[in-house]
Amino acid sequence: MIPQQTIQEIQSKIDIIEVVGEFVRLKRRGTNYLGLCPFHNEKTPSFTVSPAKEIYKCFGCGRSGNTIGFLMEHEKYSYVEALRWLANRYGIEIVESETSPEFRQQQQTADSLYILNQFAQKFFSDQLYNAEEGTDIGLSYLKERGFNDETIKKFQLGYNPAARDSFAKAALAAQYSQDLLQKSGLIVIRDNKPADNYHGRIIFPIHNQSGKVLGFGARIIAKNDRAPKYINTPENEIYVKSRILYGSYFARHAIDRENECLLVEGYTDVISLHQAGIENVVASGGTSLTPDQLRLIKKYSNNLTIIYDGDNAGIKAALRGLDLAIEEGLNVQLVLIPDKEDPDSYVRKVGADAFKDFIKSSKKDIILFQVENSLKEAGNDSTRKAALVNQIAETIARLNKAEDFTRQQDYIHRSAELMKIDEAGLTTLVNQFIREKITKEEKKAAKTAPENRTDDATPKVNDGGKDEEALFLIFKDELNERAMVRSLIEFGNKPWDDNQTVADFVFSEMEVNGLYDLLDNKKLLQMIELFKTWYEEGLAPGPKNFLYYEDVQISQLSVDITNTQDEISPKWKEYYDGPMPTREELYKQDVLSSVNYLKLRKIRRMILENQQDLEKNPTGEELLTLLQTHQHLKELEIDLTRLTGTVILR
Ligand code: GTP
Ligand code: MN
Repeated sequence: MIPQQTIQEIQSKIDIIEVVGEFVRLKRRGTNYLGLCPFHNEKTPSFTVSPAKEIYKCFGCGRSGNTIGFLMEHEKYSYVEALRWLANRYGIEIVESETSPEFRQQQQTADSLYILNQFAQKFFSDQLYNAEEGTDIGLSYLKERGFNDETIKKFQLGYNPAARDSFAKAALAAQYSQDLLQKSGLIVIRDNKPADNYHGRIIFPIHNQSGKVLGFGARIIAKNDRAPKYINTPENEIYVKSRILYGSYFARHAIDRENECLLVEGYTDVISLHQAGIENVVASGGTSLTPDQLRLIKKYSNNLTIIYDGDNAGIKAALRGLDLAIEEGLNVQLVLIPDKEDPDSYVRKVGADAFKDFIKSSKKDIILFQVENSLKEAGNDSTRKAALVNQIAETIARLNKAEDFTRQQDYIHRSAELMKIDEAGLTTLVNQFIREKITKEEKKAAKTAPENRTDDATPKVNDGGKDEEALFLIFKDELNERAMVRSLIEFGNKPWDDNQTVADFVFSEMEVNGLYDLLDNKKLLQMIELFKTWYEEGLAPGPKNFLYYEDVQISQLSVDITNTQDEISPKWKEYYDGPMPTREELYKQDVLSSVNYLKLRKIRRMILENQQDLEKNPTGEELLTLLQTHQHLKELEIDLTRLTGTVILR
C-alpha cells in the first residue's frame, strides 16, 4: 500500500504537460496545449491538454482524463503502477505502509527476478550475435526462418549455448544466488550440479506491459521427438502464465490505433506478423484464454479477432473462452488459417497485403460460427439440435447490456435463419434466459447488500402525469448533492467560525440530523466519506485528491462537479450593478445552502411518513401526536424553504 501522504505528495508534483509531453508532442495554443491524439489515427491535432484543469481531452475520439488516467490508458498501467511511475519521475520515495513481511519478501524476490531476467536476456542476445556457436546455429536458424536483424533485436531474441552450463557459470560469476536462479527456471540441478535449463535453444523473452522481462520461452532447434519443442519459465513471483499475453508490450499502441486486438497461438506468429507490419497482435501460448487475459485484452480494445490454425484443436480452444469473452462485453471474431498453415507461415507465403485482405474477408462472428459449427456436428439428430437451440439462446442472453440490444436482435435474427427456426420463438427463449439471469443476480445482490432499501419518499418516475415533476425533483436533489460535495471538497479546510472548519461544521450537521442516508448518489456519499477519512487522518484534502483518486467514476465526478461553469446565477446581474462576488467570497452561504437543502429533503421525507401514518385512521392520543408533528414539521419546512430560497441556488 502506498500511504495517502505519499499519494498527496505525488499529486502535488504532477505536471500534466510534462507527463503527457513524454508521449505526445504538444504545442501551446492559448492557455491549452494541442497534439496528435495517441489513442486514434488522426492527421490534424484534436488532442487537448489543459494545465489549469490538469486534464486531457481528445475532441476526435472523446477520450479524456487526468494525468494518472493518461498513464493508465497509454501505458496500460494499473493505478498503483502509474503512481510508482510518477514517484520515480519526480524523485519521491515510496515507503510502503501496512505490508506484511511475507509481502515484502515477495516483492524483493520479484525485483530480483526482474534483474536476473534482464541479465539473462542480455547474455542470450550477446551469445546470438557475438559468439561463434550463436551465429552459426542460432542466428542462422532465425535468418533461415526469415526474421531480419531489426525484428530479432526488437523482440530481444537470443541463444543459449549447447554446453550444459555456460549460462549457469556466467550467472554464478555475477553473484546471482543459486536459489534465485532455480526459481527463475533458467537453471536446474542435474547430477547435483547447476545446469542450463534451455541449453542449445533459441530464446524468446516474454515482456510485461511495460517492457520488463517476466520469463522466457525456449525453442528447440533440431527436430527431436523426445524433447519438448518449447520449454517455458515455471510459475514464480512474476511469471504467472494465466496473466501473460505474449507481445502485449509491442502491440499496445497499435491495438489502440486499430481498435482491434489480433490473437494468435505462438511466439513466432506474433513476431512474423510484426515484421510484416501487422503490429496489433498478441499470443496466448496455445491454451484457451483465461479470465485475466480477457480482461487484459479488454483494457486495450473491445474488438478481439482470434486467428488460429484451421485444425480442430485450434477451434476447440477458441470456443472454450467464448462465453467468458461475451460476458466481458468483447466483440469476438474468428479467422481460421487454411491448409495446415499457421499465421507465421501463412503471412510468409502470401505476403502482408494478402494476409490482411484474408483476415478482413474471412472474419466470422464467433457466435454465428458456433451456430454453424454445431449445426454441422448435430446433423439430423433432433435432440442435439434442440440442445443447440437452447445453448445458443443462452449465449445470446449473455449480451444483456443496454448497448448490446441491437447486437442481440441481430444475433437472434441471424441464428434463427441459420438454424431454420422461428425468430419469435428464439426471442422468447432468449428472454427467458435473461429473466433467469436477472432473478439470479437480484438474489445475489439482495444477499450481499441488505441496505438496498426501497425508499417511499423517493419520487417515483413511473406514476403517470407526474413523471416530469418527479424527474425534476430527482434532478434537483442530485444538484443539491453535488453542490454539497463541491462545497466540502473546495472549502472544507476553510474556517467556518472561530472554533471549527467548514468540514467540522458539515460533518456535525450531517451527523446530528442524520443526513448521510439521504444522499441517493452513492458515489457522492462515498466522496464525503473519503473526505472524512482523509480529514480525520490530519490531511487537508482538496479537489486534487479526488481528481487523482483510483476509482475513475469518482475522479470523473469530481471533474464534473468542480468545473461547473455558471458560478453565480445570471439573475444577479439584473439586480446588482457592483463587482460580482466570487464563489470564494460566498463560500459560507454556499455551504449553508447545501446543508439546508439536505435538511429540507429530510423534513419532507418525514412529512410524507407522517402523512402515511395519518392515512391509517389513528384515533385519540395517537392522532393528536401525529397532527402536532405535522404542524411542527410544516413550520420547519417553511423556515427552511425561506432559508434556502434566500441563497442563490444553482
Ligand atoms: P514454430 O513451430 O517455431 O513456428 O512455433 P509455433 O509458435 O508455431 O509453435 P506451435 O504452433 O507448435 O505452438 C504454439 C504455441 O504453443 C507456442 O508458441 C508455445 O507457446 C506453445 N507450445 C508449443 N509447443 C510447446 C511445448 O512443447 N511446451 C510448451 N510449454 N508450450 C508449447
Ligand atoms: Mn509455427
